[in-house]
Parts: sequence; structure tokens; C-alpha cells
Amino acid sequence: MTDRAFIEVRGAREHNLKNVSLDIPKRQLTVFTGVSGSGKSSLVFDTLAAEAQRQLNETFTAFVQGFLPHYGQPDVDSVSHLNAPVVINQKRVGGGARSTVGTYTDIAAPLRVLFSRAGQPSAGAAFAYSFNTPQGMCPECEGIGRTTQLDLGRLLDRSLSLNGGAIQHPDFKPGKWLWKTYALSGLFDLDRPVQEYSEHDLHLLLHGRDLKVSLGEINMTYEGLVDRFERSPGRTARGGAVRHGALPLMDSICSYSVGQL
Ligand SMILES: Nc1ncnc2c1ncn2[C@@H]1O[C@H](COP(=O)(O)OP(=O)(O)OP(=O)(O)O)[C@@H](O)[C@H]1O
Ligand SMILES: [Mg+2]
Ligand SMILES: [Zn+2]
Repeated sequence: MTDRAFIEVRGAREHNLKNVSLDIPKRQLTVFTGVSGSGKSSLVFDTLAAEAQRQLNETFTAFVQGFLPHYGQPDVDSVSHLNAPVVINQKRVGGGARSTVGTYTDIAAPLRVLFSRAGQPSAGAAFAYSFNTPQGMCPECEGIGRTTQLDLGRLLDRSLSLNGGAIQHPDFKPGKWLWKTYALSGLFDLDRPVQEYSEHDLHLLLHGRDLKVSLGEINMTYEGLVDRFERSPGRTARGGAVRHGALPLMDSICSYSVGQL
């Protein structure tokens, strides 16, 4: 191990490398770029890192070497002036949607404390700054950053009437129970295409609430299509009447989070 200014690679031939020779300056950042398959990893990991690790392992006794991973000699004439390597491999970060740069570098915890102490206005104690605790997470997406929204354009064919099957969902086919909760509510003209509804009626269809309606024998509280979906399982824990799987959904970035940025 020396302290020269360059790492000198001579005649690297791992994989597709064709006798590549280069001097890599130390104490500064060097970036290897190139199209996929051009040989970046072959040079950096399979030649440089492999040789550095091999040279480092040679400094240990044979007994200790028995416990270390074994690196063969890379196909290269010589690599000189190497230092001890720190190899960070090209690998996707594991973990679920709640893993972020903050959590897997462990920097999230001190950041939360920093925000709780220095943040103006303050949201309170450190947990209030965590997207993984109920006190801190976004109420809309629960800290995931994405929400599932009803694709209303696909659920509702506005050229059709309620009788004609405007609501494009198996549970809302004319005659089905969920269809009846709209059709028998007395609120809508069943033969009028939805696109001809007044603004008031459209709003009722999508967002109406707190209306007592009578469906023949049964009295119930009317709930608009969109609001009914908002209660559906899968989107929230609250549960609801619509089978989620068959709904046309779109996945989007949580608008609440975007709005806060
Ligand atoms: N273990 C291996 N055995 C044989 N050939 C390999 C091996 N690893 C890579 N190669 C080949 O060597 C060539 C260079 O691959 P390398 O992985 O070095 O490219 P890269 O520039 O790092 O690409 P990427 O940007 O996709 O990571 C490719 O043709 C690849 O198929
Ligand atoms: Mg690579
Ligand atoms: Zn959110």
C-alpha cells in the first residue's frame, strides 16, 4: 500500500476489456460512465476492487485468510499503488416502500430530532416528523407518498344513462343492489345520459351525502359514487361496500405531499 497520486492499471482484460491501461487519480472523485455492458463494472469491481481486496487479504495470515472471501487474480498485467478498498456494490436497495435514503442511512432519526428542535413553526416532538408514525405521517397517503385514486373517467360512461349502465362496474349493473341505491333513490332521471345532468345532479351522483332516501321498503342514507369508493377496502382501513378489485383505479403521487413541497 503506497501513497502515490495515481492508481495505475495496465493491461486489464476482464470480460470484454481489451488490454485497458489507465491512471486513476487519488483523493478525488472519478466517475466511470458508458453504455450498459461497456465494461465499467468489469474494470471497477472485477479488476480494481478484486485486486485491492486480494492484495489486502494477502496481508493476513493464512489462518485468517481461510475465513475471508477468496478473490482470484483478475485478468490484468498489473495494478499498482492501490489503497485498501471500500466496495459499495451496484445493488438495488431492499426494503419496502417505507425505506428511504433517510431510513437506510440512519440519518432520518437525527433529522427528526433536528426538525423538532429547530423547526419553525414546530410540529412538536420528533415523532411528529416521522412519515412512519401515525402522529407524523401524511393523512392522505399514510406516508407512502402515493395514493390510489378512482379513475372516474373509466368508472362513469357519461354518454350513458343510469338505466343504460353508465356506471361501468359489475356491482352497479342495472338491477343490481348497488345500482338500485342510485336508481331507486328518486334523485335522478334514469333515462338521461349523465353528461346531460345539471351540475347539481352530477354533484349529487358523485359526492352527495347525508340524504335520507327511500328505496321502496328500505330507508337508507345516500352516498355519492366517489365518496362510496373512498371508503372501499384497500384504499383505507375503514371498509366499504364496493369490491375494490374491479374498480378502475389510478396510482398517483400523493397530491397532498406534492402540495406541501
Ligand atoms: N461474470 C461475467 N462473466 C462473463 N462475462 C461477463 C461477466 N460479467 C459481465 N460480463 C460481460 O462483460 C461485458 C461488460 O459488462 P459490465 O458488467 O462490466 O458492463 P457495465 O459497463 O458495468 O454495464 P452496466 O452499465 O449494465 O452495469 C458485458 O458484455 C457482460 O456481458
Ligand atoms: Mg455495471
Ligand atoms: Zn401524502
